[in-house]
Parts: sequence; structure tokens; C-alpha cells
Amino acid sequence: MADTTFTPRVFSGIKPSGGLTLGNYLGAIKRWVAMQEEGTESIYCVVDLHAITVWQDPAELRTATHEVAAGMLASGIDPSRSILFNQSQVPEHAELAWIFNCVARVGWMNRMTQFKEKAGSNAEKVSLGLYAYPSLMAADILLYHATHVPVGEDQKQHVELTRDIAAKFNHDYKVDFFPMTEPVIEGPGMRVMNLRDGSKKMSKSGESDMERINMLDDADTIAKKFKKARTDPAPLPESPDGLKDRPEAKNLVDIYASLSGGTQESVIAEYAGAGWGQFKPALADLAVEKLAPISDEMRRLMADPAEIDRLLGVGRDRAREIAAPVLERTYEIVGLVRS
Ligand code: AMP
Ligand code: TRP
Repeated sequence: MADTTFTPRVFSGIKPSGGLTLGNYLGAIKRWVAMQEEGTESIYCVVDLHAITVWQDPAELRTATHEVAAGMLASGIDPSRSILFNQSQVPEHAELAWIFNCVARVGWMNRMTQFKEKAGSNAEKVSLGLYAYPSLMAADILLYHATHVPVGEDQKQHVELTRDIAAKFNHDYKVDFFPMTEPVIEGPGMRVMNLRDGSKKMSKSGESDMERINMLDDADTIAKKFKKARTDPAPLPESPDGLKDRPEAKNLVDIYASLSGGTQESVIAEYAGAGWGQFKPALADLAVEKLAPISDEMRRLMADPAEIDRLLGVGRDRAREIAAPVLERTYEIVGLVRS
């Protein structure tokens, strides 16, 4: 097998299945901006085809697509340096996903914890798309021969499956065509938890709005949500070890660490022994300081959806320039006749 070296390239995506949360910002977008700044070629995608694996009202899907794109732009994704587009405008994603549906094994899909959690006891009634979702995600990544994928902790298993698909394709067809993509999961914001239940992740679609910080929440709402966030009665510990078995306390410390660009150690050095009555308002102030400029810019951008669409169109054209030849070569490798 030829020993191909792949040039570093970053790909990541967010589903427009609701508004952006603080989890999306800390677990994904904040680091995407950093990777763009480091100068790595970066491709960021609003993965609308992933969103429709569960029912989306069409009007709400359009709004959420604009909101997610606006959030990326407002956070610092620069469409002249990174490629920013929405997935359904590049049909090669769905086409490569079909090839990967024929590479991935049913047994692999059955092990996906996100599917098991989302399907729950209702597995017979969920869409076939929800089951096949990780194969589409592998296509998103491998269509660009992406070498690095910055994601939150919850996506690690899907990136591992992407590597399994790449390895099996390369092996079955005796090629060295797809890279072994690395997940990039580092720092304290990789698993932002629900503010009312520290055993669940903060998500766009949880039932209660009080359990998450939305990127578009105003200062008063952010302060109220942190104030009401569940904690235990003990004060902040003297060392990070003291956060063990205290999921809610750990979550608030991690959020502070991630927003301030620090670590659990640096937060505890400042707040050891403090009560929640002191820490929560400080956390709310920090969150407002970091998020308000982004949400102001998001609102400005969302007032002009036609401009967002124009930018997504520019990204689509650049994405297709990379994607089309990769898909074409894949078809050739597989033996599909091209006239
Ligand atoms: P999603 O909203 O599920 O499309 O997720 C988009 C990106 O945000 C992925 O990289 C996720 O891992 C990340 N993400 C979503 N929720 C969280 C969370 N609560 N904590 C950390 N990262 C998250
Ligand atoms: N599955 C991811 C999530 O739910 C979103 C996603 C789709 C993605 N395709 C991707 C993330 C490719 C990284 C790379 O969060």
C-alpha cells in the first residue's frame, strides 16, 4: 500500500436542530476559531441533513440554519479564510454516505451510544436516517480528506467509526485513499453539562430552557440561569480533586475555566472555599462579558438572511471544488462506470 501523507485539514459541523448553546460554543466553535487562527485549512459546516434525522419544522429549520451560520461568523469564523457552508448544498455528502452505508457494518452501527440514547425504548419508530447518521458524518469528514476534527466529547465514538470506515474501505479496495482522521478533544469545555442535572449534557433540544445557556440569551437570563443552576451545599473545594463526585460543581468550574481560557486549577486558585452565592454571579458576569459581543453580532447578521445565504453559497462553491474530485475518484475505485 502506498504511504500517502495527507496535508492537515480541519472539518467540523453543527446541526441546525435548534439554537446554539454554550456547549456548542465551548465544545466546538471557540476551538474552530483558534484552529483557523493557527492557519490550518478549515472547513465548517451547518449539517442540515443531519438535523432532519429527527423531525424539523421547515420554517424553524431555515431559521436555525441562519442562526448557526450567524453564530459561527459572529464568533470569528472568517469566510474568506475558512470554508463555511450548509451541507445540503453539496450533494457529494449524501452520495459518499451511500458508499459508506455499503462499507459500514450493521454491528458497528448497533454500538453507537448516541443512537441508543436518542432511540431509547422507541428504536422501532425512529427514522432510518438516525441509524445511518454516523455514516453520513464519516462522509462529511472523509469527502475532504480531513485529518483533524474538533468536536465535543460526545462525538468521539463517531470519529472512531469514521476511522473504521476509512480503514475498511482502504483495505477492501487495496488503496490508501482515505486518511485516519484524529478527533481533537481538549480543554475543560469538552462536555458542558445540563444546568439542572449534572449527569446529562447541555443540549439544544432538552425540555427546559433553564437547563441550558443559549447563545442568544440576554444578560439577565444568563444571570438567572446560573443563579438557579443546581449545585450541592458545599463551597468550592481547595483542589480539583475535591470536584470528584460533584458533577454540578465540576460543571460550573469547567465552564468558568473554559470561558476564561484557564483550567480547573486556575479557577480553584482564585475561588477555593468560596460559596455559590459568590461564584455564580462571577460566572454569570464572565459569561455575559464573553457572549454579549457574539450575540449582538449574531442578531445583526440574522437581520440580513440574504447576506448569510450569499456567504454560504461562496462556501458551497469552494467546498465542491474539493469534494467533487474526491467523490469521482471514490466511484472509480469502487468500479462504478463513469461515461
Ligand atoms: P450538535 O449541537 O449536536 O450538532 O453539536 C455540535 C458540536 O458541539 C459537536 O462538536 C458537539 O460535540 C459540540 N457540543 C454539543 N453540545 C455540547 C456540550 N454540551 N458540551 C460540549 N460540546 C458540545
Ligand atoms: N454529529 C455531530 C453532532 O451531533 C455533527 C456533525 C455532523 C459533525 N457531521 C460532522 C461533527 C462532521 C464533526 C464532523 O454534534
